[in-house]
Amino acid sequence: MTSPNKRVVSGIQPTGNLHLGNYLGAIRQWVALQDSMAAGDQCLFFLADLHALTQPVVAGELAANTIEMAATLLACGIDPARSILFNQARVPAHSELAWILNGTARIGWLNRMTQWKDKAGKNREGASVGLFAYPVLQAADMLAYQATHVPVGDDQKQHLELARDIATKFNTDFAVDLFTLPEPLVSKAAPRIMSLRDGAAKMSKSDPSDASRINLIDDDDLIAQKLRKAKTDPEPLPETADGLEGRAEARNLATIYAALADTSVDAVLGEFAGKGFGAFKPALADLAVATLSPIRDRMTALLADRGAVSQALEDGAAKARALSGPTLRAAQAAVGLQV
Ligand code: TYM
Repeated sequence: MTSPNKRVVSGIQPTGNLHLGNYLGAIRQWVALQDSMAAGDQCLFFLADLHALTQPVVAGELAANTIEMAATLLACGIDPARSILFNQARVPAHSELAWILNGTARIGWLNRMTQWKDKAGKNREGASVGLFAYPVLQAADMLAYQATHVPVGDDQKQHLELARDIATKFNTDFAVDLFTLPEPLVSKAAPRIMSLRDGAAKMSKSDPSDASRINLIDDDDLIAQKLRKAKTDPEPLPETADGLEGRAEARNLATIYAALADTSVDAVLGEFAGKGFGAFKPALADLAVATLSPIRDRMTALLADRGAVSQALEDGAAKARALSGPTLRAAQAAVGLQV
């Protein structure tokens, strides 16, 4: 059941706010892929609300976050006339296929997932079953659509490899040529944007310090303030990227600048070599504000009509249900479930 066309599939958890790492590592790629689609290609992007249930949730907050994050994706350039945008919970094939794939995935495979180890921490016995099985649902998210390409940040590569292992084992065990093996598309410019407070930690929604990240809802002053206070070192900027060795925070800011300006780190250093962060940070803040403030304005306008955002998701879910139906039925048939 391999499709000759490109099927681009990716998701984001509607927890907290979208931040610059999500934007540069994933969403900007989603928009670029949507904008360069050939006839017959398809892009599907979703709010992974079922995945959000693997951590403690407040129902009202999850519902509001889902709409707000959908509005953010629309504001970033996802166009529901060209891409299928929806929330995962409205497409039952994700959960149904995940359950079938739970029979294929091995506990040993899931035990090796670094995200599971990080998130469960020392208290594995107290972690939810959902947190452990999370990568199987993620596999279903992609396999249900015969995804060919999955644009993600570097941190999701291991989950993509697992999805390929699950797909291969299922195809082999049931002697079918059902699931396409999805390819990760990791941004070269911004595979992993780091925290503004710690160059060794990923910029993350779950970091307790808001100063560690730039949220897409932050106003211009807050963006400039967070960048001004970003951790750096006293050395001036070097002439080439090699000179950033051992300077994780400096490397991160140069990477953010290059990604925002759509240029290379070497080109950025060509401009700022020998200058200190006192000169670099304001230039970076101007660039970040120029990129993010129009997105924030569009988001605010979209959120004036939450019903319309909700309707866009509902329309997308109907299309996603139709697309995932045949693969779900084929998987049911392969394992012997009456369909
Ligand atoms: P999530 O919600 O943590 O992040 C959404 C996307 O943003 C990328 N990302 C980053 N990229 C660069 N630097 C960072 N600091 C950074 N932080 C986050 C993530 O890699 C991701 O691409 N499990 C997924 C959601 C998901 C999914 C899927 C993705 C569910 N089903 C199926 C792809 C396909 C997650 O929690 O992403």
